[in-house]
Amino acid sequence: MDIVKTRAEVRAALNRTTGRVGLAATMGALHDGHVAVTRAARAESDFLVASLFVNPAQFEGADDFQTYPRPFERDMDIFEREGVDLVWAPPVEEVYPDGFETYVEPGPISHRLEGEYRPGHFRGVATVVAKLFNVIRPNVAVFGQKDWQQTRVIDALIRDFDFDIEMPVVPTVRNGEGLALSSRNRLLSDDQSLAAAIVYRALKSAADAYESGERDAPTLRELVASTLAAEPRCRTEYVSAAHAFTLDELDRAAEPMVISCAAYVGRVRLIDNMVFGVDLYGAEAS
Ligand code: PAF
Repeated sequence: MDIVKTRAEVRAALNRTTGRVGLAATMGALHDGHVAVTRAARAESDFLVASLFVNPAQFEGADDFQTYPRPFERDMDIFEREGVDLVWAPPVEEVYPDGFETYVEPGPISHRLEGEYRPGHFRGVATVVAKLFNVIRPNVAVFGQKDWQQTRVIDALIRDFDFDIEMPVVPTVRNGEGLALSSRNRLLSDDQSLAAAIVYRALKSAADAYESGERDAPTLRELVASTLAAEPRCRTEYVSAAHAFTLDELDRAAEPMVISCAAYVGRVRLIDNMVFGVDLYGAEAS
């Protein structure tokens, strides 16, 4: 496995390869969710590139950006173990050199849900992902279900900017209590981590109601909201039951559908979702 910093080094490595190029794009602090993404990308490609870049353009506050975990050596061990061929871990000035001034502005799908609470976040994501696509030119790029809205924004980016890239989405990986794995989870105390599992239970209560025949979408949203509200350490930001691809809120629950929410436990912001009637990579919709 080679680890490189510059675009020129990435290009040089790619020039020496043939076959399908895969991309696992990450901000590091890898967990089993990233491992699932990396394995899917490995299975779908001949030459696998993993990127590790904590992208300042998608963070709202300097604090969140600075406290983002960066266990570089451990991340490299995981990439190596998972059969990555090339890691691109650029410094900030390689991605955003002096004079950088052009950003990708995603459309309305980026303004709701996460976009409402994290203005500018998806502009940062779309910009860096467009750059990753341009430098690495992957045939296939794999992303995780946990950031469902992100997958929709990237899907629109691929479509609107004519990237010839397949984008499988792998199911969310959860811990024993159901908490969706996330790099920020390591900022939770043990106690908070147990409390945070309420997010999974809240979504599960709506999923169970839907599976049992409940089709009133406001009722499903209310089930999630009231379950979250019962945990005093949890502060809810939003609850949604929406069309899985347009993210338009539903009156009647119908597939394809995504039920999602965002909530704080302590200072850690958690997002999670469950999708219905959507093909995820290597799994039934969950
Ligand atoms: O999901 C992430 O880790 C990031 O948003 C991504 C796609 C690597 C872009 O910085």
